[in-house]
Amino acid sequence: MSDSDLIRSAVLKAPVSRSVVSRYVAGESVDEAVAVAAELRTTNRLASLDYLGEDTTDRAHADATRDTYVHLLEALAREDLAAFGAAEVSVKLSAVGQALPQDGDAIALDHARAICEAAAAAGTTVTLDMEDHTTTDSTLQVLRELRQDFPWVGAVLQAYLHRTEADCRDLAAAGSRVRLCKGAYKEPESVAFQSKEDVDKSYVRCLKVLMAGEGYPMVASHDPRLVEIAGALAAKHGRAADSFEYQMLYGIRPEEQRRIADRGDQMRVYIPYGEEWYGYLMRRMAERPANTMFFLRGLATKG
Ligand code: FDA
Repeated sequence: MSDSDLIRSAVLKAPVSRSVVSRYVAGESVDEAVAVAAELRTTNRLASLDYLGEDTTDRAHADATRDTYVHLLEALAREDLAAFGAAEVSVKLSAVGQALPQDGDAIALDHARAICEAAAAAGTTVTLDMEDHTTTDSTLQVLRELRQDFPWVGAVLQAYLHRTEADCRDLAAAGSRVRLCKGAYKEPESVAFQSKEDVDKSYVRCLKVLMAGEGYPMVASHDPRLVEIAGALAAKHGRAADSFEYQMLYGIRPEEQRRIADRGDQMRVYIPYGEEWYGYLMRRMAERPANTMFFLRGLATKG
């Protein structure tokens, strides 16, 4: 669905899209995203805001994305949501230049640095999202460079990649923030586990490394079994509630998000917003065939 122009155009035009999109996407403007972060705050949920967009091949677009993040961070600070990292931002390097044909890595690093400066001024943090496996090395290199000036910059590691357990070992050091997720891209067998069982086993091995380490693990999953295992591992290693956190996506298992926050653990919600919601929405659909059927039925009847 994410590659089909026909479906893309049907989805973008259909009236039913709006209600489905708004379940997973916080709106198109900075104000709407900030309002959602403020609302989540009333139930003790932390936030990580993502300005949607990826694979930018236009320099002006990459510059504009950097500027939007800076404005977003200023707005979070103005609304008193950013202090002590309560609301932070998540950034895809391909949205700020990594995919540009010339000097992509250098431009992405410069733009990410500007976003980190704005985050530091707001009193909060930045986490680098992880995209498909061809970008992993370059993203981890940018992370290393950013962390020299901003040691709180976090990274995402994807349990479906064969390499990730070793990456967890490298990043399980003091001060290092690692968001562990299963992984959302279609990856070949040569680099990634293919079955749910193998991905889940890898997730647990990675969790064990992160929870035993000195860093700050961020358990990004809606999977009840993995959430439970994370809690057990945190207890086994005597971790205090403020030494790790759970993370879920906006609109997914909201009751569970509240339950975790209510029991005194840290729960951060990843809040995507912006006009470029199509790719993000299709990844969420792919994870839940039931969602896709509901959505397509709506398209067929109302679209
Ligand atoms: P899994 O997909 O097995 O789902 C477990 C259960 O969660 C399901 O049985 C269902 O109950 C519920 N659920 C899951 N998805 C649902 C949906 N769409 N609608 C309704 N219920 C659903 N990926 C990546 O490659 N790079 C990245 O940078 C990030 N960043 C990121 C940040 C955060 C905070 C999170 C939570 C996730 C990501 N991801 C990501 C996405 C991640 O890789 C993965 O695709 C999704 O989290 C789904 O995997 P689960 O671990 O939830 O398990």
